[in-house]
Amino acid sequence: MTKFQVDSPNVTYGDRYIEADYDYCTSRVEPASDGGYKVIPNATRLRIRTERQVPKLGVMLVGWGGNNGTTVTAAVLANKLALSWPTRNGHQEANYYGSLMMSSTVSLGMGPDGRDVYIPFHDLLPMVHPDDIVLDGWDISSLNLAAAMDRARVLEPSLQEQLRPYMQKMKPRPSIYSPDFIAANQLERADNLIVGTKREQIEQIRKDIRNFRAEHALDKVILLWTANTERFADIVPGLNDTAENLMRSIKNDASEISPSTLFAVASILEGCAFINGSPQNTFVPGCMEMAEKANVFIGGDDFKSGQTKLKSVLVDFLVSAGLKPVSIVSYNHLGNNDGKNLSAPQQFRSKEISKSNVVDDMVESNPVLYKPGEKPDHTVVIKYVPYVGDSKRAMDEYTSEIMMGGHNTLVIHNTCEDSLLASPIILDLVILTELCQRITFRGPNQTTYQPFHSVLSILSYLCKAPLVPEGAPVINSLNRQRSSIENIFRACLALPPVNHMMLEHRFA
Ligand code: NAI
Repeated sequence: MTKFQVDSPNVTYGDRYIEADYDYCTSRVEPASDGGYKVIPNATRLRIRTERQVPKLGVMLVGWGGNNGTTVTAAVLANKLALSWPTRNGHQEANYYGSLMMSSTVSLGMGPDGRDVYIPFHDLLPMVHPDDIVLDGWDISSLNLAAAMDRARVLEPSLQEQLRPYMQKMKPRPSIYSPDFIAANQLERADNLIVGTKREQIEQIRKDIRNFRAEHALDKVILLWTANTERFADIVPGLNDTAENLMRSIKNDASEISPSTLFAVASILEGCAFINGSPQNTFVPGCMEMAEKANVFIGGDDFKSGQTKLKSVLVDFLVSAGLKPVSIVSYNHLGNNDGKNLSAPQQFRSKEISKSNVVDDMVESNPVLYKPGEKPDHTVVIKYVPYVGDSKRAMDEYTSEIMMGGHNTLVIHNTCEDSLLASPIILDLVILTELCQRITFRGPNQTTYQPFHSVLSILSYLCKAPLVPEGAPVINSLNRQRSSIENIFRACLALPPVNHMMLEHRFA
């Protein structure tokens, strides 16, 4: 059910599709003969088609028994059952705070009183509701989800008690474990494993996906990695550099293929989108080629939940205000199992890489402040402190050069439950991915509709190290990432991009 209709000759609401004729306006820039630039405005007419039928969606989480896996499952159940629970601050009701789709709004336009009319982002186009998502998954730890929720120490006991009868029936499927890829300290929980060759392991994952789909009569299944951070896999010519080599290496049981890549390959072979919520390079070139050939969406990497999200706002603000960040230092300490895994050097390195490049595009956007190749000093430290559990501490210091050689130092201390930030992001990732599977485009001279590129870069808002199609620019700025989602969805309804010009209120 649409909550509003666009009244325009450029949009048609059919039984099956919403079809929009949309002028995509851009500016092309060319170097001019006098050393300056020539700017040429351009408009391309697109027809954009959005399938209206919202499917029954199943989501399979790799790492289902972890803090994120149990917390997102508990949150969906608590919302679906409309649970509330006593806390020392009064009664708390289930909600989806932190979900871009469920708890943020977009403006439809200006109402009769000259003010914006806001609706939930979720109502902009037909989308899956998180309450309706069927969850399942794998974990190398055999604990049922109720016991795993206890272990996570995230949710209030009074809520856990209400959820226990439902969650103790949920048991993660055995998973693929390779001690070489995650920290040695994870060994003690690895008691739920698929044995066999890599080929046999992939076959088992594929079987699990098919069984899950059939068992719940699902229209679609999406897989998402929220298991431990792996070390980076080596990219080796002949091993994993092409789709063909990757498949051959799997057949030969090559050791340098990570469990997350095996999951991604199984998912692609089943035609299911695969999202990577951790920082490692699951999508080795061979895997990306496989996804592209199969027209299956992949997205990642690494949930953008707390410190990095703030960084992608703050540095954007500083640089776009004409201030020059010169030193950014980020300390984290956390005491959950993610922190324990990240206390090993190779896994920390994956996270460090993922967190490091987040300011690059903003710095490069301002040649007034930065010379070519110049970057702020940027350091990231992560320490494991068991006592703080899931309540992660992030301390950031930003020093910027201001006018006439002055300095401005901002210090930010951030404390919050990590999994309660990541869980709504997991939901947004799958809701957006599913919607994008129903959107296709046709250019002026094309007769067939095309989907988005298999590397689904629209998910960048939710990812620390956004995966983009080869050659495409990486955008880290949170505001730009959000606007791109909003404006693409508006285009699906033939609505112009939000421009904030508000000329109605500015002229005399
Ligand atoms: P966690 O350690 O509580 O959960 C990970 C789960 O994965 C564990 O239950 C573990 O047994 C399981 N596991 C490990 N290897 C597996 C495999 N091969 N197959 C199946 N299961 C496997 O960690 P948490 O806090 O849930 O985080 C999960 C991932 O999300 C981590 O990689 C973390 O870096 C990433 N992440 C988390 C963020 C957050 O805010 N919570 C933000 C950004 C990324």
